Amino acid sequence: MENLNLINDYNENIEEYIRKLRNNYTNNKVAKIVTHGCQMNEHDSEKIRWLLEKMGYIFSENEEECDLVILNTCSIRHSAEDKVYGQIGRLKHLKQTKPSIKVAVCGCMMQRDESREYVLEKFENVNIIFGTNNIYKFPELLYKNYCGKKLSMDIEENFKNIDDKLGANRLYSYKSYVNIMYGCDNFCTYCIVPYTRGREVSRDPYEIIEEVKDLVKNGTKEITLLGQNVNSYGKSLNSDMTFTKLLYKINDIEGLERIRFMTSHPKDISDELIYAFKDLDKLCNFLHLPVQAGSTKVLKEMNRRYTKEEYLEKIEKIKKINPDIALCTDIMVGFPGETEEDFNETLDLVQRVEYDTSFTFIYSLREGTKAAKSSEQVPENIKHERFERLLDVLYPIQLEKNKAFINKIVKVLVEDLSTSKKGNVIGRTSEFKLVSFPGDESLIGKTIDVKIVDANTFALVGEQID
Ligand code: 5AD
Ligand code: SF4
Repeated sequence: MENLNLINDYNENIEEYIRKLRNNYTNNKVAKIVTHGCQMNEHDSEKIRWLLEKMGYIFSENEEECDLVILNTCSIRHSAEDKVYGQIGRLKHLKQTKPSIKVAVCGCMMQRDESREYVLEKFENVNIIFGTNNIYKFPELLYKNYCGKKLSMDIEENFKNIDDKLGANRLYSYKSYVNIMYGCDNFCTYCIVPYTRGREVSRDPYEIIEEVKDLVKNGTKEITLLGQNVNSYGKSLNSDMTFTKLLYKINDIEGLERIRFMTSHPKDISDELIYAFKDLDKLCNFLHLPVQAGSTKVLKEMNRRYTKEEYLEKIEKIKKINPDIALCTDIMVGFPGETEEDFNETLDLVQRVEYDTSFTFIYSLREGTKAAKSSEQVPENIKHERFERLLDVLYPIQLEKNKAFINKIVKVLVEDLSTSKKGNVIGRTSEFKLVSFPGDESLIGKTIDVKIVDANTFALVGEQID
């Protein structure tokens, strides 16, 4: 079997388990991975898929054909967890007609004691459990399960730089995710992530650059650097490496066309990074800078460590130096103690910033976080009403921003065939605008000049120009 090139103590162990599984248990067995949550999880699933392929699995979307279903879970909001419980319940029924089917549950929910214990208590059909920091243990746990263990489980609190030596069976060949750091130390008071993904750990810059070079050699045109707070990249390394320095190094990689990153924390956005957008030809014209709320009082309660004015000053500077940059944000309504006045500050902020895109959320109480203990929880009906009012302000601005692209010629990296319009393909501009235009499979993975002819709130419509 091919060497997996894992350079750690666990190396031989992983290879040994994979070999045994492939030879005795899993060759030509069928698996499905269901991924919930963020890009970090999507990329973790690509690593799991890589391990599965090494173990001899083939893939199907139809659970009835599967010998193994893996649920890669998300804890960020209550609704995300409920979806997973529903799925495990459905798989329990499937087990009645297909007793040999195995269920693995991994990801953020399994890092949380409450959710893991709930799964253990309610669902005896779960066979394998691992977390976000020990994907590398999956083959061992699966092997033990095949050897008769009813439940194989292992959780690691913090990231140990073993999973980043694993390969990834990537969904696309021309755009790839690359982890640059793991975990989060910010402890925003509403957020479960610091408890699920553990402490912040930066990855070695040499390894990151080698991974990007390798990807480019294999056809990748666009990379997205992933981390909960990429701006604090380097803090855990004993060197003068910073996120911006890393960007400059990656920009030098020949053959790479586009660099994206997510997510940024406003408190850590440096001047060097703001200028990097102007300087670096490959860095896309798009910044995701979650504000969460517009009221300084709420921001303080959220432990965001910036005021409304400081955020707006940063935005002004970013726009002044990069007038064409597209801005995106995450906003939450109904944080405990949010008054009508506080909410109006959010509406005021979004009107001033004029975001191109936004991810909007209704606050969801997460047990274990500081905000969960607040006695000032906002009633559900008020949260929903504010949510609708927020969209009513955000969407017309987004529509105007998109309409401003009409008659412009943009470069579109084509991602896929359109599912909503037959005969069209879809892709993204540097500003992360979704563009649909007439075309076929032969365009996928290519960067095409497209003239924008129409626009709505969520996408642009174009025509290829010769
Ligand atoms: N409730 C609602 N939204 C949340 N987010 C994080 N935690 C919560 C929560 N408890 C949102 C934030 C974050 C995004 C990834 O999810 O806006 O930026
Ligand atoms: Fe959660 Fe805040 Fe960390 Fe983002 S920065 S992952 S919102 S704690």
